[in-house]
Amino acid sequence: RTVAVVLAGGTGTRLGLGIPKQLLKIAGKPIIEHTLAVFEAAPEIDEIIVLMASGHVEDARQIVEKAGLRKVTKVIEGGDTRNATTRIALDAVGPADCNILFHDAVRPLLSGRIVRECVNALWSYAAVDVAIPSADTIIQVDDNDCITDIPTRSRLRRGQTPQAFRSPTIREAYRIAEGDPDFAATDDCGVVLRYLPGTPIKVIDGSDENIKVTHPVDVHLADKLFQLAAAQAPRLTDHRSYAEELTGRTIVVFGG
Ligand code: CTP
Repeated sequence: RTVAVVLAGGTGTRLGLGIPKQLLKIAGKPIIEHTLAVFEAAPEIDEIIVLMASGHVEDARQIVEKAGLRKVTKVIEGGDTRNATTRIALDAVGPADCNILFHDAVRPLLSGRIVRECVNALWSYAAVDVAIPSADTIIQVDDNDCITDIPTRSRLRRGQTPQAFRSPTIREAYRIAEGDPDFAATDDCGVVLRYLPGTPIKVIDGSDENIKVTHPVDVHLADKLFQLAAAQAPRLTDHRSYAEELTGRTIVVFGG
């Protein structure tokens, strides 16, 4: 059994809308509905559990009902932090061994390809992350905003979600974390890395389009990406076609 856990317990302070950003409508639907629809359509997913921000559980239930999402078995309240929300989700999934994919509700442009590759990777690995290379150089700074390190870019990736686990692995990592008074918020692969060191965590390729709606500019980006998808426009990874679309000119690349 493979369960998709959609994490929607946050309130979106950086977007600052006054409602949780997962309820914002983009391309005619609340962001969370787009996200849920991807898991509903994925043949690898048997069940979906939604963890919603306090005060908005009923909103999420209505979205699920109206959209006729039959794989959603539970819509419950999340926790104060993302890790607290994950812990509540682990209880909600139940004790039987299964595969669990944790996904940010605010990444509505997830692809079926990524879901499939996560689930397939769980045959060989107990923990799986999704990431993309970083186009920007990543610098590390100290408390005074002075550079302390510039790690080699080719070794860096930008983490996305889903993060996928065999349930005994993520449960055990959280069980150990609970006994650590210094436990600091981190993503779920970070909990496995820290508390079950030595567990290989496979990284599969994410996508530039699998953005996390975080800042106002992301709303515009997500809107445009949905428009392109609806028009079945060339994928953004096809740079030449996209440049042609933008410029209205045929672009010929010699020797390319
Ligand atoms: N999340 C959650 N429970 C929390 C906090 C976050 O389930 N207590 C979820 C969010 O709903 C989101 C995902 O984790 O889908 C990624 O978090 P983030 O983008 O930081 O969302 P928010 O916490 O809502 O945003 P902000 O940090 O701007 O307040």
